[in-house]
This record gives sequence, C-alpha cells and structure tokens, in this order.
Amino acid sequence: MEIEELKEELKKYLKTSRYDHSISVMEVSGQLAEKYHINKEKVMKVALMHDMAKELPFDELKNYIIKNNIYASKMEMRVGVTLHGKVAADMCKKKYGFDYEMCKAISIHTTGKPRMSLLEKIIFIADKIDYTRTYEGVQELRDLAFQDIDSAIVKNIENSIIRNIESNRLILEESIKTRNYILINAKK
Ligand SMILES: [Fe+2]
Ligand SMILES: [Fe+2]
Repeated sequence: MEIEELKEELKKYLKTSRYDHSISVMEVSGQLAEKYHINKEKVMKVALMHDMAKELPFDELKNYIIKNNIYASKMEMRVGVTLHGKVAADMCKKKYGFDYEMCKAISIHTTGKPRMSLLEKIIFIADKIDYTRTYEGVQELRDLAFQDIDSAIVKNIENSIIRNIESNRLILEESIKTRNYILINAKK
C-alpha cells in the first residue's frame, strides 16, 4: 500500500493531534533515512503507522494481545505502554502486509531493544524528537540524532528513566537492556 493510502487508513484510527504527530515522525524518519542511507519509503511507512493502535482502550489492547498470541511480559501487561506497538505491528502485518522488519520496528518503538537495526533505531528516535515535541532539550536531542543516533537513543532512555523515577513509575527492563546493549557495544 502506498503512503497516501496508508494516511487515509490512519485517519480512521487517530484523532488529529496524534495523526499530526505521526506525520511529523514520518517526516523526521525520512530525513534520518537519507542521512543514514537506508530505504526512505520503507522507513516512512513504518513511522506513519507506528501509533495506529495508540487510541485503543487498555482492555482492548490486552485482549488483542491474548487472542492473537502476541508475546508481552507480565510487567508489560501491567505497565501497558508497550502494548499499542505490539498490536499496531500485528495489524500492519495483517492489514497492509508490512514485512517482519517493519513490524518489529513498530512493535518495539516505545522501549527499543538490544541489537536494533538501523530502521528500528530511526523509528525509535524519530518518535521522540518529531517536530510536534516541545519538551526541554528536544532540539539538542534532534541534533544528536543526526550526528550519532546511538547516543541520542541512550540519552532519550536515560531521560525517560529519570522521569519515571521522579514520578514514582515502574521502569521496563526492555529500556534498561536497550541502554546497556548500546553502551557495551558503542564504538570506542
Ligand atoms: Fe507509541
Ligand atoms: Fe509515537
């Protein structure tokens, strides 16, 4: 399916503000794909659809996961934030024929995972630095993403861990594993 058709599909699932976020993530992803020399169209399709399940109620996400035998740890089922990615990945595979790599990138876009492909890294970071985001430090993180995508991912994870601690929220081990993997394997 072409990008224009996917946009029409996405509108059925998202309210305007989240649709705008998705378009913006798609634009940043396209720029990062150019910078890091990977297939731009593929990256942009993944970016566009990454949050398509974000507005489904928590119970529906949980039921979808159980019914479709999608893996989610007990902690993920409890925390909830990663479920919309897992569901969106499955929907994109079944409805739009997205391939394994595209679906994986959608599935793990909230926390990342160890051994991410360039496509997965781009989707992960583009989601956090798109042009609708205005949090303090976002421009620095944007600049860093275009210079050293691994460092930008680590920085983002660290900031979100700190925010979770300050707000007394649980921290998913997937985030910690992603950070550890990049730190261990960083180019010296
Ligand atoms: Fe998301
Ligand atoms: Fe998003």
